[in-house]
Amino acid sequence: MINDLWYKNAVIYCLSVETFMDANGDGVGDFEGLERRLDYLSGLGVNAIWLMPFQTSPGLDDGYDVSDYYNVDPRYGTLGDFVEFTHGAKQRGIRVLIDLVVNHTSDQHPWFKEARSNPDSPYRDWYIWSDKKPANADEGMVFPGVQESTWTYDEKAKQYYFHRFYHFQPDLNTSNPMVQAEILKIMGFWIQLGVSGFRVDAVPFVIAQKGAEVKRPRPQYEMLRGFREFLQWRLGDSIFLAEANVVPKTNLQYFGHDSDRMQMMFNFHVNQALFYAMASSDTRPLAKALDATREKPSTAQWGIFLRNHDELDLGRLTETQREKVFEEFGPDKDMQLYHRGIRRRLAPMLEGDRRRLELAYSLMFSLPATPVIRYGDEIGMGDDLSLPERNCARTPMQWSPEPHGGFTKSDKPILPVINDGPFGYSYVNVADQKREAESMLNWTERLIRMRKETPEIGWGECTVVDTGDDGVLALRFDWRNNSVLTVHNLLSRPAEVNFDAGVGEEGHLLIDIADGGNSRAGKNGRHRLLLEAYDYRWFRLGGLDYLLKREEI
Ligand code: NOJ
Repeated sequence: MINDLWYKNAVIYCLSVETFMDANGDGVGDFEGLERRLDYLSGLGVNAIWLMPFQTSPGLDDGYDVSDYYNVDPRYGTLGDFVEFTHGAKQRGIRVLIDLVVNHTSDQHPWFKEARSNPDSPYRDWYIWSDKKPANADEGMVFPGVQESTWTYDEKAKQYYFHRFYHFQPDLNTSNPMVQAEILKIMGFWIQLGVSGFRVDAVPFVIAQKGAEVKRPRPQYEMLRGFREFLQWRLGDSIFLAEANVVPKTNLQYFGHDSDRMQMMFNFHVNQALFYAMASSDTRPLAKALDATREKPSTAQWGIFLRNHDELDLGRLTETQREKVFEEFGPDKDMQLYHRGIRRRLAPMLEGDRRRLELAYSLMFSLPATPVIRYGDEIGMGDDLSLPERNCARTPMQWSPEPHGGFTKSDKPILPVINDGPFGYSYVNVADQKREAESMLNWTERLIRMRKETPEIGWGECTVVDTGDDGVLALRFDWRNNSVLTVHNLLSRPAEVNFDAGVGEEGHLLIDIADGGNSRAGKNGRHRLLLEAYDYRWFRLGGLDYLLKREEI
């Protein structure tokens, strides 16, 4: 069972083919380039790759505007190249997850073209129409400040169509059984080509009731069970990882009370509390968020992340908390986006401070979840705020100190490679960091190994241990008679904490898994720990190795 539920104790690496590696020298990353980098990813130790959309697309929303679900965009290669890639990944024991973007299509999709030009076409009902502009057309925009409406008039159709996102992304009528059948067909297609599941885009919008007459859209959770049933029949160990930034009380509706919906969801709630904790050195809201998202079926798993390809959405924090995060990590208006978030990458937010970066990743890796890291994080890549909206954090991977960071031989990379300042490719690149034993890259590789060898975190029961200091978070994980304790000091100054690890005897050893600084319990079994600013520790409470005590199923 532990091996079957592979996602419970995995590390996922997400990347965009377009900006990862260009093999044919046209300036655009491609599947051949990605395939050549599989040994790099295998060396890093990741279990799965999540690919951002790579299907045919006009590319107005970085591929989240698909115009053909059954093809690879020709700029990235062919279906043949895709299969070579999934095959290569499989040979190295790496699974591939891909985005499933079915809330909407591109307005260039033949279904939409047909729907708008022919009212009698069956495709008309694949989208959401209205004769009149609905009264709430200027509400519910996902990209406020950039997107003006959720209904746009179409000259050809002589009707308004609904789009939750940009105007060129008409929403599919996901209640239409024909649309639902097509969604299953799309899944079946890619499963056949070697993928192990899907990161499902915008799930709350996919399942929401849609239409001009809908005032308060009711979620149609049952739809998720239909998707899951199909997926499980086609490939037993394939999974869904849901993008659903929702309030904790609805989590179980997404996972399914009987574990019959999404196996994984991103934990946006904890992500935001985590940033607040780093900004304020107050870990109490983070502990609260962990508690609020504790309940889930035992086979389900959270996906946790620091930054992703979108803005850091702080919409669920209180206004005061959000202001604090803005103040610390994105004080300039230009760093903020959609009135709710920060568009920078993590390394610049933390001023490239290695201690803070290590703290952030170590903390993220020791939360009760599967860590999802983003390409470039492992070397501490920066951003380019001169690029519009979210593109600033989507610049090409920096492989070497060669021109364009070794990403392409072309002089016209699809997005400029960061070439100046402390995050420029001459300072921040894979080739140099490989040669340096203490580099961020080699540190991340060790962190990944340590996390994978600590399955208590992915599988176990997590308890917050009182350290007596709100700036220091201690988490204990118990699983099958093995226990692990992680301690993180979010303060910019040293801290001394005194806590009960729950073992209860004087002299008991906490064994440091990372660097050998063990801790011995004093009187009453309590541990006294001195932590430097931004220090972190991972301890094993029993023997050195969980494998020795492991019970098999
Ligand atoms: C969520 C994706 O993460 C984002 O990048 C995209 O713009 C929207 N969904 C629309 O597909």
